[in-house]
Amino acid sequence: MGIKKLKVITPTFSPPEGLDSFPMPTLVFHAPSKTLHANSAFEEAFGKAPLVRFSKSPKVSLIHERPIDLTLLASPGRHEGYTIEDTSGSKIPVEIRVSPLKGASEDTCIAVIENIQVRQNLETQLIQNHLDLKNAFLELSRTQAALTQSAKLASLGELSSGIAHELNQPLQAILGFSQELAEFEKLSPAGTEFVQDIIHASKKMAEIIKSLRSFAREAGEEKTETSIEHAVREAAKLMSHSLTQKGIRLEINVSPQIPLLLANPIQLEQVFVNLMSNARDAIEAAHPGRGLIRVGITSNANAIQVVVSDDGCGMSEEIRSRIFDPFFTTKEVGKGTGLGLSISYGILKKLGAGIEVHSEPGHGTEFKLTFRPLGITQEGEVA
Ligand SMILES: Nc1ncnc2c1ncn2[C@@H]1O[C@H](COP(=O)(O)OP(=O)(O)O)[C@@H](O)[C@H]1O
Ligand SMILES: [Mg+2]
Repeated sequence: MGIKKLKVITPTFSPPEGLDSFPMPTLVFHAPSKTLHANSAFEEAFGKAPLVRFSKSPKVSLIHERPIDLTLLASPGRHEGYTIEDTSGSKIPVEIRVSPLKGASEDTCIAVIENIQVRQNLETQLIQNHLDLKNAFLELSRTQAALTQSAKLASLGELSSGIAHELNQPLQAILGFSQELAEFEKLSPAGTEFVQDIIHASKKMAEIIKSLRSFAREAGEEKTETSIEHAVREAAKLMSHSLTQKGIRLEINVSPQIPLLLANPIQLEQVFVNLMSNARDAIEAAHPGRGLIRVGITSNANAIQVVVSDDGCGMSEEIRSRIFDPFFTTKEVGKGTGLGLSISYGILKKLGAGIEVHSEPGHGTEFKLTFRPLGITQEGEVA
């Protein structure tokens, strides 16, 4: 008994009537015969050529990016994320909605293709607008924070200026009287010594008051021809006691013939005192009892460079990004004010000087200051 071979007859498929007048780009796919029909709207939108390619070799898709084969067109549903290349080669993002064709055999599907370029552009624009808005908001909160900080700084300035003023008057009296007392002939040698001590201490207090006033920006800001080395050595003198006490060595290296610069020497000194005291604190935090602070001064034709480095605890990127903010401190209450670097930054900025920081946790910190020497303009030209 032989098996009867059945001949499968594939009916020729003809696209539904009215397909051409349908306004949306549409494909009809008949799975058994693998025939594909496009309506005029499709050809208008995407051209004829790719369709020919598509129908001739069904495995090579005209829909790129996520290649598909004809089975997509036979799977009902909504398909996103595809692009179709038009005749000019531009890729057009499309959404394909596939549904079984009513009144035809089961294996016939109709795919309506929608160009979603405009929608996508709008979406991208919307996302961009959202990001812009978010950035603007961030910027605004940052500005607000900075404003609050400078308001705080301003009130602190007022306060210290008031205190400085109040203290200065009695101090001037003490100084005046003790200077007169020093002229007294009837003073015992011990008395003379005491009076000299009083004069010395009062002068020191007057200096402190002066720098308080300079913080309050009310003291004179007179600039004179100033030697950086002198400012560094004066700062070193002020720091020497507390450095020796903590077992910290200070090394100062100065290249020959460093030019002068136009600055207020007291303010410049203040910058170096701030940098050195931060270095001291960082060393103490890392390894109490020993440490090294280096100050190197070099110069070239249009810049003087001062590098202050320490072998202290260093700092993380997160801390580093905030050190110039007023009131930013990582030190315990009573130890740090968080003003040292913000004041120094202000002083340097007014001088047109730059400050850079390199630091690594556990590996110490380096502050690099760049000054314009006397007679050199900001652009590095000789004035
Ligand atoms: N040399 C340094 N090494 C490590 N951290 C430093 C150094 N200099 C500054 N910092 C960090 O910057 C912060 C701000 O410094 P500053 O403005 O001088 O304020 P303060 O010393 O009062 O904390 C410090 O609390 C510290 O965290
Ligand atoms: Mg400090």
